[in-house]
Amino acid sequence: MPPLLDVRNLSISFSGQDQTHLTAVRDLSFTLAPREVLGLVGESGSGKSLTALALMRLLPPAGRATGEILFSNGTAPRDLLQVPDEQMRSLRGSHIAMIFQEPMTALNPVMRVGDQIAEAVRAHTLITKSAAWDRAVEAMNDVAIPDAARRARDYPHQLSGGMRQRIMIAMAIVNRPQLLIADEPTTALDVTIQAQILELLSELREKFGLAMLFISHDLAVVSQVADRVAVMYVGSLIELGSKPDIFRSAAHPYTRGLLNAVPTLKTDRTQPLRTIDGTVPPMHAVPAGCPFEPRCEVRIPECARALPPLLEVAPGHWARCPVLNGA
Ligand SMILES: Nc1ncnc2c1ncn2[C@@H]1O[C@H](COP(=O)(O)OP(=O)(O)OP(=O)(O)O)[C@@H](O)[C@H]1O
Ligand code: SF4
Ligand SMILES: [Mg+2]
Repeated sequence: MPPLLDVRNLSISFSGQDQTHLTAVRDLSFTLAPREVLGLVGESGSGKSLTALALMRLLPPAGRATGEILFSNGTAPRDLLQVPDEQMRSLRGSHIAMIFQEPMTALNPVMRVGDQIAEAVRAHTLITKSAAWDRAVEAMNDVAIPDAARRARDYPHQLSGGMRQRIMIAMAIVNRPQLLIADEPTTALDVTIQAQILELLSELREKFGLAMLFISHDLAVVSQVADRVAVMYVGSLIELGSKPDIFRSAAHPYTRGLLNAVPTLKTDRTQPLRTIDGTVPPMHAVPAGCPFEPRCEVRIPECARALPPLLEVAPGHWARCPVLNGA
């Protein structure tokens, strides 16, 4: 059976009016099996949201995606970059749904939350307003909003940040998608609420058999939900593997650096956490060779010459560092 999602050589670029050309995502490939959760991690600007938007075919107008995004929900794989607009509109929000990074901008402030969810139902199903309203209340129950029938009449500003995020999740799952893209779904929330939302997403995955692309800049958060982890650095995939591959035997210096910066129970709290020296280069100044080369403690002269290939360092575990992996 083909994977649910098979992204092949996805590149995303922007052309400026002054003939400038910027490649924000380079040659990205990964797969996602049904019911699997892939964590997509990287610092700000690494291309995580653009990747998500390309999957939804919602890139900003100046953005251009090339490569293939094959989606297969029991059917022959369809390339989401090529399907006609009408087919994409029907897939988006029904088979593939997304929780956007900015929850407040994604909700309409002057519309009752129940109506907003009901509208998402009616965009894909021919049913009456009252039946759609019932489905909305049911979805609010699914995301554990207490007293859902009453809260459905609230406007977004009457709800807490955590409740608003639950509404966003209800809106995303109400049409029972096979794939949920969650872009930093907990970043704006405080730690207790964050934990509740992560637990809810795990429950929904079990209950509805959801596959998830879970995007975060926070490895600790990703470790709580993901089966596999993809690490991005300024637009390139630099490591991909199972959760144990990444958290116990990271094979790229950048991933190791990120892990050193995450506190664990064993961390000596009297010492400052280690950080990675240097800063992320801006997109227009990404080095031609290994993108991490200027910050890498184990670089050799060859590293600056060309983008290193992704090497399979163990079955299913890939890393873009020939130096550390003896190639
Ligand atoms: N509309 C645009 N026009 C030109 N460049 C863009 C545009 N949107 C994004 N970019 C470039 O692509 C890079 C990656 O953006 P993206 O939003 O995918 O990052 P991200 O990994 O989601 O970061 P964050 O963690 O801050 O959300 C940005 O740093 C920027 O350089
Ligand atoms: S390829 Fe070279 S510069 Fe890049 S991470 Fe490996 S050792 Fe460091
Ligand atoms: Mg983002």
